[in-house]
Amino acid sequence: MALKSINPTKTQSWGKIQAQFETIKSTHLKELFKRNPKRAEELTVRWDDFYVDFSKNRITKEIIKSLIELANEVDLKDAISKYFEGDVINTTEGRAVLHTALRAEKGSEVYVDGVNVIPEVFEVKQKIKNFTDAVVNGKHKGHTGKPITDIVNIGIGGSDLGPAMVVDTLQFYKNHLKTHFVSNVDGDHYNEIIKDLNPETTLFVIVSKTFTTQETLSNANSIRTWFLQSLPQEAISKHFVAVSTNIESVKAFGIDEKNIFPMKDWVGGRFSLWSAVGLSISLSLGYDNFESLLKGAQKMDEHFKTTDFDNNIPVIAALLTIWYNNFFEAESEAVIAYTQYLNQYATYLQQGIMESNGKYVDRSGQRVGYQTGTIIWGEPGTNSQHAFFQLIHQGTKLIPADFIGFVESLHGDKDHHDKLMSNYFAQTEALMNGKTEAEVLAAFKRTNLSDDEKQKLLPFKIFEGNKPTTSILIKKLTPESLGKLIAMYEHKIFVQGIIWNIYSYDQFGVELGKQLAKTILQELNDDAKHTSHDTSTQNLIRFYKENRK
Ligand code: F6P
Repeated sequence: MALKSINPTKTQSWGKIQAQFETIKSTHLKELFKRNPKRAEELTVRWDDFYVDFSKNRITKEIIKSLIELANEVDLKDAISKYFEGDVINTTEGRAVLHTALRAEKGSEVYVDGVNVIPEVFEVKQKIKNFTDAVVNGKHKGHTGKPITDIVNIGIGGSDLGPAMVVDTLQFYKNHLKTHFVSNVDGDHYNEIIKDLNPETTLFVIVSKTFTTQETLSNANSIRTWFLQSLPQEAISKHFVAVSTNIESVKAFGIDEKNIFPMKDWVGGRFSLWSAVGLSISLSLGYDNFESLLKGAQKMDEHFKTTDFDNNIPVIAALLTIWYNNFFEAESEAVIAYTQYLNQYATYLQQGIMESNGKYVDRSGQRVGYQTGTIIWGEPGTNSQHAFFQLIHQGTKLIPADFIGFVESLHGDKDHHDKLMSNYFAQTEALMNGKTEAEVLAAFKRTNLSDDEKQKLLPFKIFEGNKPTTSILIKKLTPESLGKLIAMYEHKIFVQGIIWNIYSYDQFGVELGKQLAKTILQELNDDAKHTSHDTSTQNLIRFYKENRK
């Protein structure tokens, strides 16, 4: 059954939330803490190894209650069942959305077109495990008999960002294999990567759900040409494997059927790292770590599916986005992770969040009359404190931020970790409390400034504070906790899409540029004077053609 189409702004709760917004919009977070001494406790969710503190958000329990009423009015419960049960909720592409089935427990049942897909999921997982073990322990050798030392993942978007982010984030758990990612069609990208590689000891994993993506096929073709300069055609079978739904095109590329790791069309690209798309994760970290990643996600699935909304981490997180995006008119959200390991996390989330919820047509085919998808961005702390934090503290924009931190450091450097985490705690406190006039004046007393100088400086030194943050504190960065964290954001995306009444699982918006690029590519290589473009584009193309070598 399809998802319902309910305009959220026409619900009873929307009006109620609007009224609540009017009463709270100028209230300072400090005041909310003063009014309710139990606030921190009441607005924190403890689950497994996660401690999620929502209390530094500009909400109250009553507002959360109204936001939950909104979720109920749009029938989020029904949508969650449809999501997990394999209903065709990606209606515009006529597909189910079942990345959750990829991490389901053995023996579960999830049906697509009357067929339980779980046995096949486990068959592919077994294939991933067998291949991983063979490559890692050196049983799988290259064409000249040497063991594999390097893995190159060739893919883009969901066929790159998820695996690249996970491998980088979990590098502490990595085995001896060196992993590289080629994504951009920019030839400098693949050339930089292959320049130090030995084809005899390198395994190339071509990942493309459709196997039609220009970037991936160009990179794969160029790399194969480079490879064949040193090794014969029959070496391909030892050095090239592929992950795709498009088995025929992979075979036509020259890859043996036994070297194809299949995936299903009910796995969206940006949610596919749990499928065979995660092959390079498994190869880099070992299969057991890949399995732990899946286990973590499965635990978050259970939490999301079975927990009441008022204690449900992805649901509350999504409702907060609605609150800031649609009532405070905040346009973006920051994700600041206090671990260098999560360096690529915001980039990864950008595809998940912005490709999913960047839509202006609702599920009835009408243009929405309200804001949808948020802009997502971020960098790890503490580096970002020295880059863009000024704007979050004293700029004119409201930027709700997620602060992700870990109790334990992986290398166990307590001194550094305490310093790191003192910043983690200090920043959310500073963003909330700001610095009052009285505090600035008190600080001035310890200086030699004249009264005149103090008066002049005063307005610049005051911080309004009242900047909302959510603190996500996790015991330790492990494959399992990362699996939970990723799944948490996946479900947050889903809930937002349900409430905004949009289809989160297609991405037609990225197609137009691809089509135009195809036409322009032909024009770049002929001598005709093309006049079909606007004059700006025409002149740019002309300048490029006239000046290239
Ligand atoms: O950017 C559009 C997109 O279709 C993404 O959704 C997808 O992850 C990416 O291209 C790569 O697609 P494929 O895996 O089919 O090569």
